[in-house]
Amino acid sequence: MFKVISKIEQAYDLNVVMYFENQIKICEHISDVNKKLIEKLIAKKEFTAKKGEVLKVEFLEGEYLISMLFLGMGKEEDFNDNIYREVIFENLSKEKGSVLLSSDSAKLSNYKILAEIVGNVNYNFDDFKIKKEVEKILEVHLFFTEQVEDFNESIILANSTDIARKLVDLPANIINPESLSKRSIELGKEYGFEVEVIDEKGAEELGMNLLLAVGRASITKSKLIIMRYMGNSSSEEIIGLVGKGLTYDTGGLCIKSPDSMFDMKTDMAGAASVIGAMCAISKNKLKKNVIAVIPACENAIDGNAYRPGDIIKSMNGKSVEIINTDAEGRLVLADAITYIVRNEKVTEIIDLATLTGAIMVALGTIATGVFSTCDERYNCLEKASSEHGEKVWRMPLFDEYEELLKSTVADVKHTGGRMGGSITAAKFLQGFTEGLPWIHMDIAGTSYDSGVKWNKKGATGVGVKSLYTYIKNR
Ligand code: BES
Ligand code: MN
Ligand code: ZN
Repeated sequence: MFKVISKIEQAYDLNVVMYFENQIKICEHISDVNKKLIEKLIAKKEFTAKKGEVLKVEFLEGEYLISMLFLGMGKEEDFNDNIYREVIFENLSKEKGSVLLSSDSAKLSNYKILAEIVGNVNYNFDDFKIKKEVEKILEVHLFFTEQVEDFNESIILANSTDIARKLVDLPANIINPESLSKRSIELGKEYGFEVEVIDEKGAEELGMNLLLAVGRASITKSKLIIMRYMGNSSSEEIIGLVGKGLTYDTGGLCIKSPDSMFDMKTDMAGAASVIGAMCAISKNKLKKNVIAVIPACENAIDGNAYRPGDIIKSMNGKSVEIINTDAEGRLVLADAITYIVRNEKVTEIIDLATLTGAIMVALGTIATGVFSTCDERYNCLEKASSEHGEKVWRMPLFDEYEELLKSTVADVKHTGGRMGGSITAAKFLQGFTEGLPWIHMDIAGTSYDSGVKWNKKGATGVGVKSLYTYIKNR
């Protein structure tokens, strides 16, 4: 899909040359007559290589028809990685076949980002179509003669992001708690992490009544998927990842409207990102200890569904008063957090969840809302995320919000009303973290059909790269 080459050995369907604004220089290997043609066209079309500006030129060199695309990246002083991502993605998305990229500028020859973006361009969710969206994947080569650092890491990150994306895009008649467990086991074998799956009986023995309640009405039974990668035996630190794995969210008895139910196959995006991150971490053999837990279930409806008004004892011991069965994510996460703290003895927790519609009201689909009890770790995550163009925004965890979760009949109720909905959801989770350093990422807005300009519609795999880099830098 993507390669860096230092010698041109084949003909390409398209040759893309990238320039900063007003820094256009025509390649020396072109014959004088064609150089003249190009100069005239550049002048006539007033092409100056503004951000996203393109000029396509076709001409004969000997017997070869050459197609060239001059691609503007804007002013050098305004340039950044996200502009590169945006312009490359937009323009490569229109192409088919083989493309050669080149530039005089090393800044515009960022092969790590190219590996990532070519991954985004080539990702397609057309498994169910007889006629595929593209018959051929786009093959991109970068011509670059300077020293190339190893960028296998970027390739692995692109692949791991695709693994997460595919899990999210697959519908709920394919991905259920059972098939998600099977896929995790397969990936564990392929990428080198250990997988254990606990079934309903095991969950009952552990006292995971919140998880069991949410999944009870589904024909496919709940699972707790545990993935372990211990890459540093001389360290006591174990990073704990938790991913919301609702393979479908009907809302339960508090049923969603058809419109808001439609995309609820994506309610396991947190789980998918955690699985993708485990693949990348193991494949790149990070010297870290990471344990990930996925509470996998389906929030369905039938005669034994859990109800508003029920009082359920969590694995933690606290009783929870159920207010709205559509606020199921925090319930399954609460038990998964208790499990990972008590039974896996992790030293910090990061959870990813498509938790609230309220986070989309607050931040739209551009930034992930992040809550954390540790400034240092939050800063580390922010840095890791920005390296990959994944935007995060910190949200508050003020004590006052917790009062909204007081119940008259149980230790806690699980929703705090419409106002500040993503914050009260986070406060509910915090009540199960037992004082460990904790990061909570509400990816409801960013995991699917996000507003990020270098992703296709559909699943984004948000979090895979950020988690990987965060863990690598810890
Ligand atoms: N899975 C949803 C949140 C969600 C909404 C994710 C839209 C992606 C897109 C979650 O389980 C949910 O239903 N949350 C409720 C909570 C409410 C009942 C307190 C919500 O946000 O409306
Ligand atoms: Mn819900
Ligand atoms: Zn949900």
